[in-house]
Amino acid sequence: MASTSILEDSPFIKCLKRETTTYTPVWIMRQAGRYMREYREIRSRVGFLELCKTPDLAAEVTVMAVEQLGVDAAIIFADILLPLEPLQLQLRFSKGDGPVIEKPIRTGKDVDALPPVEPLESLDFVFEAIRLSCRALGSRVPLIGFAGAPFTLASYAIEGGASKNYEQTKGLMYADADAWHKLMVKLSDITFAYLKAQIQAGASAVQLFDSWVGALSPLDYERFVLPHMIDLIGRLKGQAPVIYFGTMTGGMLDLMSASNADVIGVDWRVQLDKAWAQIGYERGIQGNLDPLVLLSNKAEIERQTRIILDKAAGRPGHIFNLGHGVLPETPPEHVRYLVQLVHQLTQR
Ligand code: CP3
Repeated sequence: MASTSILEDSPFIKCLKRETTTYTPVWIMRQAGRYMREYREIRSRVGFLELCKTPDLAAEVTVMAVEQLGVDAAIIFADILLPLEPLQLQLRFSKGDGPVIEKPIRTGKDVDALPPVEPLESLDFVFEAIRLSCRALGSRVPLIGFAGAPFTLASYAIEGGASKNYEQTKGLMYADADAWHKLMVKLSDITFAYLKAQIQAGASAVQLFDSWVGALSPLDYERFVLPHMIDLIGRLKGQAPVIYFGTMTGGMLDLMSASNADVIGVDWRVQLDKAWAQIGYERGIQGNLDPLVLLSNKAEIERQTRIILDKAAGRPGHIFNLGHGVLPETPPEHVRYLVQLVHQLTQR
C-alpha cells in the first residue's frame, strides 16, 4: 500500500526509530477530549462508552483532533479499560466519579474465575474505528493504537476504580504473589492480542499506558511488573514500535528502559535530559510539558517549551508531548499554539 510507505517516512515514525527528522514531532495525550467544544457537543448526545462503541463517531473524533491541532500523529479514540468488559468485570463510567468496575478482582479465586481469553471479537468496534480513521487520514499522519499496561489495568480491575494508595492492589501482590503473576500473565495475553489486532487494523505504533506504575517502589516494580513488560514488549517487537508511558516514574526509569520499549514516556516531574540519561540514548523519550502550563499564557508556554527542547538538544528520538493528558479546562488555542511552536522552534 502506497500510503504505508509514506507513513514510514513521517517524522513521527522516523523519530520512533531514532532517525533524524526535519522537525520534532508532537502529539498530545488525550488530544481528543472534553477541552474541545466539538467533542462536548457530541458527548451531549452520546455517553462515553457509547461513543467508543460507535466506530464512525470514534473515528470522527480521532481525525478531528488531528485536523484541529496539526499534530504529527492520531491516537485512536478509545479507553484503556475497554478490555475489562470481555473479562466480565462490568465496567461503567459514572458522572464525576470516573470509571467504576462493579465486580473487582480481590482474591486468587477471583483470578482463577476469570473467563478464558477469547479472540477479542467483542472489541471489534475499536478495530473498525481504526480502519475508518486510517482511511480518513490517508497518508497525512500515522495512527497510534494503545492499551493499558498490565499493572495499571490490574490496579483498576482490583480497586474497582481510581485509587490513591492502591491498598487492594498491593495487598493482593504481597499476600498472594502467585495469583498476582497469574493475573499479570492474563492481562499481558489480552493486551498483546488487543494491540496485535489494532496493528492489523492499521495502527503504525502502539503506546502502553502504565499511568499509575509510579506508585510502586523500584524493587516492587522489578519483581512484580518488569518481567511481564519484558515479555509483552518482546512479543510486540517486529509488529510495531512501542511507546511505554508512566507517571511519577523518576525513580525507576532505568528499569522501565529494561522493558526494551522503543520510547519511554515521562511526566514533568523529571528533567528531560536527566531522564534520558537514565533511560539510555539507545531509546527514544516522549514528553514532558506539565499539562497545567497550557492553562497559563503563550509567553509561559513558549518559555517552558524552549527549556524542554534545549534539554532534548536536537538528539534524534525526542517526541514532544505533555507529561500526562491534556486537561478539560485547557483553551484549544493554547494546544494549537504549542504544536506550531514545537514545529517552528525545531526546524532543521
Ligand atoms: O489520547 C487520546 O486522545 C485517546 C483517548 C484516550 C482516552 N482515555 C479517552 C477518554 C486515552 C489514550 C485514554 C487512556 C486512559 N483511560 C488512561 C491512561 C491515560 C491517563 O490519562 O493516565 C486511563 C487511566 C483511563 C481510564 C479513564 N477513562 C479515566 C481515569 C477517565 C476519566 C474519568 C473522568 O470523568 O474524568 C476516563 C474517561 C475518558 N477516557 C474520557 C476520555 C476522552 C472522558 C470521558 C468523557 O467524555 O466524559
